[in-house]
Amino acid sequence: MVNKLVDYVDLDYKPNENDLIAMYYVEKSPECKDLEHASMEIAKESSIGTWTTIATMSAEIANKLKPSVFHIDNENQIIKIAYTKELFEAGNISQILSAIAGNIYGMRVLENLRLLDISFPKDIVEAYKGPKFGIEGIRKLIKVENRPLLGTIVKPKVGLNEIEHAKVCGQAWKGGLDIVKDDENLTSMSFNKFEKRITETLKVRDTIENETGEKKIYMPNITAKLSIMKERADHVIENGGEYVMVDIITIGFSALQEIKDFLDKKNVVIHAHRAMHAAFTRNKKHGMTMLALAKIMRLIGMDQLHTGTIVGKMEGQKQEVREINKILTESKVRGNDITLLDQDWGNIKPILPVASGGLSPLHVPELIELLGTDLVFQFGGGCHGHPDGTEAGAKAIRQAVDAVLNGRELKNYAKNHSELAKAVEKWG
Ligand code: 3PG
Ligand code: 3PG
Ligand code: MG
Repeated sequence: MVNKLVDYVDLDYKPNENDLIAMYYVEKSPECKDLEHASMEIAKESSIGTWTTIATMSAEIANKLKPSVFHIDNENQIIKIAYTKELFEAGNISQILSAIAGNIYGMRVLENLRLLDISFPKDIVEAYKGPKFGIEGIRKLIKVENRPLLGTIVKPKVGLNEIEHAKVCGQAWKGGLDIVKDDENLTSMSFNKFEKRITETLKVRDTIENETGEKKIYMPNITAKLSIMKERADHVIENGGEYVMVDIITIGFSALQEIKDFLDKKNVVIHAHRAMHAAFTRNKKHGMTMLALAKIMRLIGMDQLHTGTIVGKMEGQKQEVREINKILTESKVRGNDITLLDQDWGNIKPILPVASGGLSPLHVPELIELLGTDLVFQFGGGCHGHPDGTEAGAKAIRQAVDAVLNGRELKNYAKNHSELAKAVEKWG
């Protein structure tokens, strides 16, 4: 009985505050009759059902737990499903994803399936702490209020030894950047050991802080297996570090939740690098959106997260990146029927978006116009690629930001700012 279409599709169903809502883009395969049938299969496989009727299913279980497909938009091929919160272990992101983003991707009745957004009900939201610092905490720590935070990634991504790495960081801070971070694939290499790199780099940070009187941040990439990440985080803290970076996808959701809890107790800010996300977020027909992933990251509690640049080297369109940043920064989000669902974040703090990937000082006017100033802008090649090196590159970035915030044209401002002038020459 309960496997029948009528049981899972209920277009009159009104979701309530205990329901988790998932919105999907669905392409059925030729063997599937219509979108309604595909929706039923998705709802069933992601909750209590399977391919055939089963003797172990009772009306009681079905009535209590079966989800309802309550929205089918045939024109845009979008459906919404309401799942009772009883189907989920609230604090367990892996379990939630195994349900609403699990087996369903591989079903023969579907050609493509994309999870567009998830609306988490109050009880699930309350099971998470969210970011410990978030935008407010980070700004307080770095003591920069009125401009975007500015950072670089040490380049080459991997290749420098510990001393060279520390030196490059020093040049970037000295040139005026607030933040220097490791790249996503730099961890502990034969020629650049994590512990030594951190000790050396934080020593240089202290020197530059004393010299400049400005707060400087180093974000070491602690990505590794969980037990080692904990040791590395401890090493960072023992050496006076306040920040760590993790590759949120490649370490896995469970490890991420665990390291977040660990770091919470130690009062450390977490920078979330999303390397590998595009394996499942990029194809517009399949996988899940970066927006859905960003929401999960706010719930788990990353303090800052890469969300795209619109103008740089990585894919990510204007509307999409702006919507992601909105999801990360607003306390209540109003949905639409195409890209976004309603979300009430309760007490979960806003996360600082990070724009990184293929940026140079020449992008600053557009970046600020498109994304505003409440985020981190990071320049790797766009800092170390400056004709006069890292320190000049950092200066050029600060000059570009100063120019825009003072309403000046970059090329004009460059007339009496030589570092910016050289950047314009190279990238203009
Ligand atoms: C990089 O590591 O080169 C980029 O920063 C990737 O950035 P994104 O994940 O923010 O697009
Ligand atoms: C990052 O990890 O954020 C980057 O490596 C960005 O590097 P790029 O500015 O050289 O693209
Ligand atoms: Mg990188």
